[in-house]
Amino acid sequence: MHDFRYVGNQLFCEGVSVGALAKKFGTPLYVYSQHTLEDHYQKLDAALAPLDHLICFAMKANSNLSVMRTLANLGSGFDVVSAGELQRVIAAGGDPRKCVFAGVAKTEAEIEFALRKGIYCFNCESEPEILRINRVAARLKKNAPIAVRVNPNVAAKTHAKITTGTYENKFGIAFENIEGVYARASKLKNIKLRGLQMHIGSQLTQVTPYELAVKKVLPLVRKLAEKHALEFFSPGGGLGIIYNPALASGVPSWWKSPAAKGILTPASYAEKLLPLLQSSGLKILIEPGRFIVGNAGALITRVEYVKRTGKKNFVIVDAAMNDLIRPAFYDSYHEIVPLKKIGGATVASDVVGGICESGDYFCKDRPLARVGEGDHLALLSAGAYGFVMASNYNTRPLAAEVLVCGKKFAAARERQAIKEIWAGEKIVAWLK
Ligand code: LLP
Repeated sequence: MHDFRYVGNQLFCEGVSVGALAKKFGTPLYVYSQHTLEDHYQKLDAALAPLDHLICFAMKANSNLSVMRTLANLGSGFDVVSAGELQRVIAAGGDPRKCVFAGVAKTEAEIEFALRKGIYCFNCESEPEILRINRVAARLKKNAPIAVRVNPNVAAKTHAKITTGTYENKFGIAFENIEGVYARASKLKNIKLRGLQMHIGSQLTQVTPYELAVKKVLPLVRKLAEKHALEFFSPGGGLGIIYNPALASGVPSWWKSPAAKGILTPASYAEKLLPLLQSSGLKILIEPGRFIVGNAGALITRVEYVKRTGKKNFVIVDAAMNDLIRPAFYDSYHEIVPLKKIGGATVASDVVGGICESGDYFCKDRPLARVGEGDHLALLSAGAYGFVMASNYNTRPLAAEVLVCGKKFAAARERQAIKEIWAGEKIVAWLK
């Protein structure tokens, strides 16, 4: 499921020693496998092959230009959530005509930019937004293609901070109100109703919530498609990945087996959803982020100190919550392995960063090889919502990123220079 594996006692990404990358580029360092990216995209693409479909990679998960170009080269579209992301699509060589624009807070300027670039569709989250898009389109003498994001009120059974498809959440328009919204929107002169979209949450590891939501929404899709000549339906993104292989029911072959009960894989997704989606008679869009890029990346870090207290073994590393916030923010699990295998007994360890917050940890009391200063660790499955959520907290520079392809590797982003961090700041005149 990914291309980080030991060759002898050294961790490799595809054909390249990760230790050599850490030496050359320094740490903290994000390393991405091009093969894993391509493989995951292609697995999904193949699973959806019986349908007229378009995969729009949710680039909020990872917007590095090389990652995006890899996917653009395979024909991927993109799900963008800001004008900045759309500009990145263009910079990466992607096609705006294969882009959908999601998000609850699109500004006038963003709508205008997206219209000028000719995106495929706006995924709208409220009626005021539709009215605003209509106004901007009228001013530009254009027709704006839109879909409405339906909130099906189905619980996604994932982390509370990333569940989106219930009426507790700010997203979409309530299922019961959709028909009225389409009827009103169809009267707007500069709006073209192109589809219906939904997204119930992120890191879904079971097929059932998708199935329930799609089953609930399908009759509505058919009705609207007929009335308004819709082109597409999107069941959204959110396909989960395995962060902790130990929890993957101990069956490594689950990945390929659609029979692995209920676990979401491209095969089980296709098995359950394809017949339903097919029956819509529409083109199908999906907007996955994590599934494509999550397992394709690792964050490499150096052990600075090992500190034993009465209760704990703290492994203090040079990466911190500003580089990868997921454990601090969601209490999420990332597998942590040494770049050089170390034998002997493991020791229950807290791997922590150097930021002055107790939340700045990567794991707690996890059995880990007995590492020491100068050893390196890899935090796996850090390709999605890793670098993109990084910050300059504590005036720490953004990490470097490297793309690996077979035996080739190159910087996909230079480490941020310290002075860049305050480049836009000023000491105001009256203080001088
Ligand atoms: N479409 C919409 C409308 C979304 O809101 C999202 C993610 C996606 C697609 C892509 O979801 P994915 O396939 O990647 O699950 N930072 C969190 C995840 C936030 C997800 C936000 N929306 C994390 O690190 O787990």
